[in-house]
Amino acid sequence: MPFPPAFLDELVARNPIEEVVGQYVNLRRSGSNLFGLCPFHGEKTASFSVSPDKGMFYCFGCHKGGGVIHFLMEIENLSYADAVRALAQRVGMTVPEDDRYQSRYRQQERLWALTKEAARYYHAQLYAPAGAAGLAYAQKRGMTKSTLTKFGVGFAPDAWSGLVDAMRAKGYTDQELTAAGLVSEKNGRIYDRFRNRLMFPIIDVRGNLIGFGGRVMDDSTPKYLNSPETLIFNKRKNLFALNLAKKSKLGYLILVEGYMDAVSLHQYGFDCAVASLGTALTEDHATLLTRYTEEVVLLYDADEAGQDATRRAIPILERAGLRVKVLKVKDAKDPDEFLKKFGADRFQVLLEGASNRVEYQLSAIGKKYDLKEDDQRVRFVQEAADLISTLGSAVQREIYGGRAAEAAGITADAMKLEVDKAYRRRRAREKKRQERIDLAPAQALRPKDRNIRYDNMKSAMAEETLIACLMKDPALAEKTGGLTEADFSVPLLGRVFRQLMDRHKEGLELSIAVLEGLSPEETSHLAGVLQRHQGPAQEQAVADCLAVIQDQRRAAGAATEEDLLALRDRMKQRKGVKP
Ligand code: CTP
Ligand code: MN
Repeated sequence: MPFPPAFLDELVARNPIEEVVGQYVNLRRSGSNLFGLCPFHGEKTASFSVSPDKGMFYCFGCHKGGGVIHFLMEIENLSYADAVRALAQRVGMTVPEDDRYQSRYRQQERLWALTKEAARYYHAQLYAPAGAAGLAYAQKRGMTKSTLTKFGVGFAPDAWSGLVDAMRAKGYTDQELTAAGLVSEKNGRIYDRFRNRLMFPIIDVRGNLIGFGGRVMDDSTPKYLNSPETLIFNKRKNLFALNLAKKSKLGYLILVEGYMDAVSLHQYGFDCAVASLGTALTEDHATLLTRYTEEVVLLYDADEAGQDATRRAIPILERAGLRVKVLKVKDAKDPDEFLKKFGADRFQVLLEGASNRVEYQLSAIGKKYDLKEDDQRVRFVQEAADLISTLGSAVQREIYGGRAAEAAGITADAMKLEVDKAYRRRRAREKKRQERIDLAPAQALRPKDRNIRYDNMKSAMAEETLIACLMKDPALAEKTGGLTEADFSVPLLGRVFRQLMDRHKEGLELSIAVLEGLSPEETSHLAGVLQRHQGPAQEQAVADCLAVIQDQRRAAGAATEEDLLALRDRMKQRKGVKP
C-alpha cells in the first residue's frame, strides 16, 4: 500500500462523494440519500444511490458500490493508485509518491499538460501575424470572439516546426510530443502534424485537453485532421463540447455530427450541443450521455449519410435508457447552415416541433408490428399502453391513448382500460422493488458473488449489523468485547472488522473508501450491506449482535468437534474391515 493512511483520510474528506459522483451523474436528493441513473448500467429509473454521510455509492440495480476512490476507479477505468492521484489533483493535494510508481496516470497527466500547452500555443497563433489567415477564416465562418475564446479555437500556422519548437522550449520531449499525437515522424525527425488548419481543442468531461480536430481552410482534403488515438484520446469514448454542454440548464442534449454544428449551436444560445468525433455513435458515447441527461435530440446532417447515421444511433441511445427526439433541418445541409440562414428563433420552432418522444416511440412501436394481424395488434396495444402509462398528465394519456387506439383500430375506452392496467402493473412492480429494498428477506441478501460465502445466515446478519454500526459510530468499537476476526462466520466481514478495529486504535477514519485489500466485488457487497442497514447505531444493537455471533460461533465449534469424533469412529471402523 503506497499511500499513508492519514493522507488517504484527508483525501477522502476533501473529496465528498456526492461532489465527485455529481460530476458524472445527475443526482436528486431524497431523504438523506441522493439518487440518479446508474452510470454503470443502462436504466430508466434511478436506482443508483449516494449516501454523503456514509461516503459511499450503491446501485440497487447492478449492485455496484463503494467509496469515492472505488467510484472513480470504476467510472474512469483507473487503477487504485491512479484514482487516488486523480482525486488528489482534483483538490490540489500533493501525493506522497514512491518514485518506483511510474504510473499510467503520471504519463497521462504529462500528456494532458502538454496538450493544454499546445492549445494555448494554437490559440495565441490565431491572434499572431502568422495566424491572420486563420482568424479571417474563423470570422468568415461567423465565429465571434467570445466563441473563439470559449472553445479555445486556435490556428496551426503553415510551418513545419512551430509547435515542436514551442513545446521543446517548455521542456517537453520528442517522445512526449509523439505520444500526444501532435507530431508526425519521418526519417527519425518529428514535425508538426497540424499545419495551416483551424484547430478545435477536444476537452473531456473532467476538463482535460485530450486532442484536436483541425480543419483546412479551403476545399482540400482531408477536410478534418484529428488527433490519433493516444493514451489520453479515445474517439469512441469522448464527445466534443460535452465539457460545456454538461453544464447546460436546458435539460436535454443535442447531438450533432460536426464540430462546426456544435460550435454554432452554442453561439446561438443552444449550449447543450455536443458532437461525436468523426466516428459513428458508440455505446460508450450513449452511456456517457446518460450521466448528464435523460433526453437526447438527434440532429444529424440532412443528407443520406446523416439520416443513415440517425437510424443507427437511435437504438444505441435507447438501449442506454435515453429518451430520443429526432430532428432534421430543412433547406440547409446541417444545423450550422440552418442557424446562419434562418437564425435562433426559427431553430427554436424547429426544436419544439421535433417529434416528441411519445410520438416518436409510438410510431417506432407501430413499425414493429403488422397491425393487420390480430395477435400483433394485441402486442402493439400492450406495448403502447406501457408507454402511455408512463405519462404524467391525464391529457397526454388521453391524446396519445386516442392515437394508439386509432392505429390499432380499437375504441378509445378499450385503450384506456389497457393503459390503466399497464399503470397498475408498473406501480405494483415499483412497489415490489421498493419492498425488496426495504425489507429484503434473508435469502435475497445472499451475496451475489459466490466467493463471499454466507454459510451461517444468522451469524452473518449479526455480523453485517455490527459492521454497519461500527462504521456509523466508531466509538462503538470500544463495546465489542473481545470479539476477533476469527469469530466471524463470513471471512470478508471478519477482515473488515479487523481493519476497522486497527484503524480505530490509530485514530483513523472508518469509511468504506479507505478499507484495504477488498476486491471490487467485495467492496460492492459491503456497500450493499451498509446501504441496507439504515437505522441508528446503538450500543444495544452492538450487544445483541455480539451475543448472536458468539452463540453461533460456539455452536459451530461444537459441531466441528462432533464431526471430528464421527470421523475418528469411521476411520476406526474402516481399519477394522481391512484384511
Ligand atoms: N470528420 C472527420 N474527418 C473528415 C471529415 C469529417 O473527422 N475528413 C468529422 C469531423 O468531426 C466533422 C464531422 O465529421 O466535424 C462532420 O463532418 P462535416 O459535416 O464534413 O464537417 P462540419 O463540422 O460540418 O464542418 P464544416 O461546416 O466546416 O464543413
Ligand atoms: Mn456538416
